[in-house]
Amino acid sequence: MAPVITSIEDLRVLAKRRVPRMFYDYADAGAWTESTYHANEADLARILLRQRVAVDISARTLASTMVGEPVGMPVALAPVGLTGMQRADGEILAARAAAAAGIPFTLSTMSICSIEDLAENTSRPFWFQLYVMRDRDFLGRLLDRAKNVGCSTLMLTLDLQVLGQRHKDVKNGLTTPPRLTFTNLVDIAAKPRWWIGMLGTKRRGFGNIIGHAKGVRDMRTLSSWTAEQFDPTLNWDDVKRIRDRWGGKLILKGILDVEDAELAVASGADALVVSNHGGRQLDGAMSAIAALAPIARAVAGRIEVLMDGGIRSGQDVLRALALGAKGVLIGRAYIYGLAAGGEKGVTQALDIIRKELDVTMALCGLNDVNKADAQVLAGRAQLAVP
Ligand SMILES: Cc1cc2nc3c(=O)[nH]c(=O)nc-3n(C[C@H](O)[C@H](O)[C@H](O)COP(=O)(O)O)c2cc1C
Repeated sequence: MAPVITSIEDLRVLAKRRVPRMFYDYADAGAWTESTYHANEADLARILLRQRVAVDISARTLASTMVGEPVGMPVALAPVGLTGMQRADGEILAARAAAAAGIPFTLSTMSICSIEDLAENTSRPFWFQLYVMRDRDFLGRLLDRAKNVGCSTLMLTLDLQVLGQRHKDVKNGLTTPPRLTFTNLVDIAAKPRWWIGMLGTKRRGFGNIIGHAKGVRDMRTLSSWTAEQFDPTLNWDDVKRIRDRWGGKLILKGILDVEDAELAVASGADALVVSNHGGRQLDGAMSAIAALAPIARAVAGRIEVLMDGGIRSGQDVLRALALGAKGVLIGRAYIYGLAAGGEKGVTQALDIIRKELDVTMALCGLNDVNKADAQVLAGRAQLAVP
């Protein structure tokens, strides 16, 4: 009998059963001790909502905008590398579910499905996330490719100039395609949904890179290329150059500090994402929700503020909006849905979050999601906000 799914946690449990361990662990992990990864969720859970009664809440709306784009609810799918390894053709399935929900999908530079392939297989324009690579010709071509297929917005990730280490990835020997050790083969064999899907798709490598970056012809040459490509010289002048070269809407992702938020405003970007990369980079950094309020206060009205990290429910979405975010991105919440049930699973994840947000708003006496502010909060128990 199919399990009854009522929460993102249910999807996570199902994802763990259905996806080879190395890819499940790749998603459900943080850097080093995972303290920041866990703080993202724990700090959100500590924020108390304010129950209100006898308010007419019959005309509720979740419709909003993110970087000027109308959205069915203020939630976008975050860029997630290797999405097509959680489920065959994962990027296409997730982008279709996002389009049906009327929310943006962000394609990672490190996706399995290429920019062009995704555009051919979906109808709603998607956002493209860029990592700055040393090979600037390749970088320029990536921007052109995203522009050519009509990507509406560029999301430039700033917090991954060097790679945080996730112990599980090292121990599992994470590679794409998976390294076929005896243990991995036994594990994969036990996940028939996954491998039958994978056998039936041609999308099994990094689609944006193989055949596009100089000297990268296959998975073997790719791994050495990636290891040396993330550019440690990335700085605010590069950000401005990329802004000018792109010419469209620009979101800067990975801001966790008020001073950096000010620099983001000065760079002329349209939005910033308060983010610690889902706890996958600087272990020991503050949670994203703890960083949000001071940043939102400092830059209010000068740049749009988005947030990600630890959002697992509609209540979490409302908490982030109350602390100053115009919208949130979700990573693992939709990845678990995808891994558990493909496009239907992502739709389930989005339906769960939408319903929770709607009912939570109602119980807080709020009709319009755009009016969420500190008034919906009752307090926060020992949240380490500076
Ligand atoms: C498996 C995985 C892969 C990710 N890959 C990328 C990526 O390629 N580019 C990027 O900017 N962020 C990446 N992120 C970070 C997400 O965009 C986002 O910041 C994070 O997932 C938010 O936290 P949450 O998963 O708790 O919602 C990744 C996150 C996960 C979980």
